[in-house]
Amino acid sequence: MTNPDLLIKNIGVLATPVGNCPVGGNRQGDIKLIKDAFIAVKDGVITGVGSAENLVHITLGEKTVVIDAGGKLVTPGLVDPHTHLIFSGWRQKELSLKLKGMKYLEILKMGGGILSTVRNTRKASLEELVSNGMKSLDRMLEHGTTTCEAKSGYGLNLKDELKSLAAIRELNRCHPLDVVPTFMGAHAVPEEYRENKKEYIRLIVEEMIPRVARDKLAEFCDVFCEEGVFDIEESRYILESGKAHGLIPKLHADEITPMGGAKLAAEVGALSAEHLIYATDEGIRAMAEAGTIAVLLPGTSFYLGESFARARTIIEAGIPVALATDFNPGSSPTESLQLVMNIACLKYRMTPEEVLTAVTLNSAAAVNRASTIGTIEVGKQADIVIWDAPDLDFIFYHYGVNLVRTVIKKGRVVVQ
Ligand code: NIG
Ligand code: FE
Repeated sequence: MTNPDLLIKNIGVLATPVGNCPVGGNRQGDIKLIKDAFIAVKDGVITGVGSAENLVHITLGEKTVVIDAGGKLVTPGLVDPHTHLIFSGWRQKELSLKLKGMKYLEILKMGGGILSTVRNTRKASLEELVSNGMKSLDRMLEHGTTTCEAKSGYGLNLKDELKSLAAIRELNRCHPLDVVPTFMGAHAVPEEYRENKKEYIRLIVEEMIPRVARDKLAEFCDVFCEEGVFDIEESRYILESGKAHGLIPKLHADEITPMGGAKLAAEVGALSAEHLIYATDEGIRAMAEAGTIAVLLPGTSFYLGESFARARTIIEAGIPVALATDFNPGSSPTESLQLVMNIACLKYRMTPEEVLTAVTLNSAAAVNRASTIGTIEVGKQADIVIWDAPDLDFIFYHYGVNLVRTVIKKGRVVVQ
């Protein structure tokens, strides 16, 4: 191998899952560890990985950038497969209401929660949404995230949903992070349709979905299937309509009430079902049979003071588990997937190896990108994190601080 653009040497331990396929492939927690390793990169793609003794086979060019990892841990860049990145206005006032005992769905019913963010997002310009998004993407990147999914869903009319998706497109273009777009016009029923949900669903299905698909503004279609929001049959109808236009289904399933969302996700062939706090045994079985990925969001359980999803049961059922921040201004105001990794380890009792699989290969699969990202292997995109940690256990043990040292995106150093 000659003349790489980048060589990372003196890696104390390289930890990565392997392969492209978590469903029926790489098992949760099956990771490869290489001690005293190196990685070579050319044109943004990994061209060599191995232990230091094989470095003799690499000839450096004049322009090769050499990074000394200082004997530290290296992992794939983190992938956050569920965020509500596009919004205007934080909701810090809701914290004291919550502390007084008011529930998330009560706040929403009063016109607060998602609906108050909708009012602010509608007022915001495209430029404001892009500038807010930039700030959050910078924070994600600093914490090791190199790809994230981003949902619309605070516009809730054609014009403002298109504006939100345009903001995602612009962020993907101008920020180093890759941002994967999801259309979520079915995030809530907007106030003006409170008495006429049917008409809002018609608007989603007949006007929003065809336009989003025509303009190629999203890859996925997501629905908040929840009591007082969209029920099972409404969610099915919206997801099937999305599918007919080429949008892959995803679902907010069984987050606050057991609605049968997990089973629905399996039935419509969703790529992933998300949250799953109250998923039933039947729902879990259906997901395992259908090959649906579980995207779990322990930061949301922590922040809402809700129960935690049955991660161990879901893993033991053979379902690939991915983890995400659910970053949004209400139920999970954090950009840090690192914090979510800590919560998953301690509250779900997932091992460090299982969590690493969940935030790399499995989360890449949950955004349909497992053939290009999520592992450190020859041929994959060079999205890499160097940690200020001697081994994998350390990042789960020393918590609450940012342990990311260097982030490399497509072979370029973007955080150091
Ligand atoms: O995943 N559940 C719906 N959407 C978000 C919350 C959004 C908000 O509160 O603004 C969630 O928890
Ligand atoms: Fe969410």
